[in-house]
Amino acid sequence: MENKKVLVAFFSRAGENFFPGGTRNIEKGNTHVAAEMLAELTNADLFQIQSVDGYSDVYKECVVKAKTEFDNNERPQLKEDMDISSYDVIFLGYPNWCGTMPMPVWTFLENHDFTGKVLCPFCTNEGSGLANSIADIEKLAPAADRKDGLSIKGSLVQDAKPEIVAWLETLR
Ligand SMILES: Cc1cc2nc3c(=O)[nH]c(=O)nc-3n(C[C@H](O)[C@H](O)[C@H](O)COP(=O)(O)O)c2cc1C
Repeated sequence: MENKKVLVAFFSRAGENFFPGGTRNIEKGNTHVAAEMLAELTNADLFQIQSVDGYSDVYKECVVKAKTEFDNNERPQLKEDMDISSYDVIFLGYPNWCGTMPMPVWTFLENHDFTGKVLCPFCTNEGSGLANSIADIEKLAPAADRKDGLSIKGSLVQDAKPEIVAWLETLR
């Protein structure tokens, strides 16, 4: 990663979320926590992908909206976007929503040209792993030099630093 310009772009949602045995309110989303660890470890810039509409703090309402957007193959408009052209390496973080990435991440991927860029996906989830997200990234950003993704258990993200460090070693 030395001498490379690195970006950590991520989607994450605070509020009521699924945890083993029930739900819990979190002030900072799990992927956000992992994204900050990665940014610190790689000396990267951080960018949060957010849709104009956003998502309910109420877990069940969020699930309904997430499913509807996926079923309709929507591309939610982003609150803001950025110029990624100067970055060599882009870490892309997202929660697993219903087996893939939240649809604003689809918008982000389609908005940009990943030619010549290394793309490293990381996904927080409660057991489904990266699921279909890698195949979807392949479709949405075929030009990227995509590396193997990292799956992190969302409810254990505070302890994930060693896993992240080990993953970074594989990307050298
Ligand atoms: C709408 C929605 C759908 C989800 N679907 C899945 C799923 O299919 N599989 C899974 O393991 N976890 C699922 N989860 C749990 C999240 O992936 C997990 O809690 C993640 O760490 C949340 O990240 P965040 O706090 O950065 O948003 C879902 C959560 C939400 C809100």
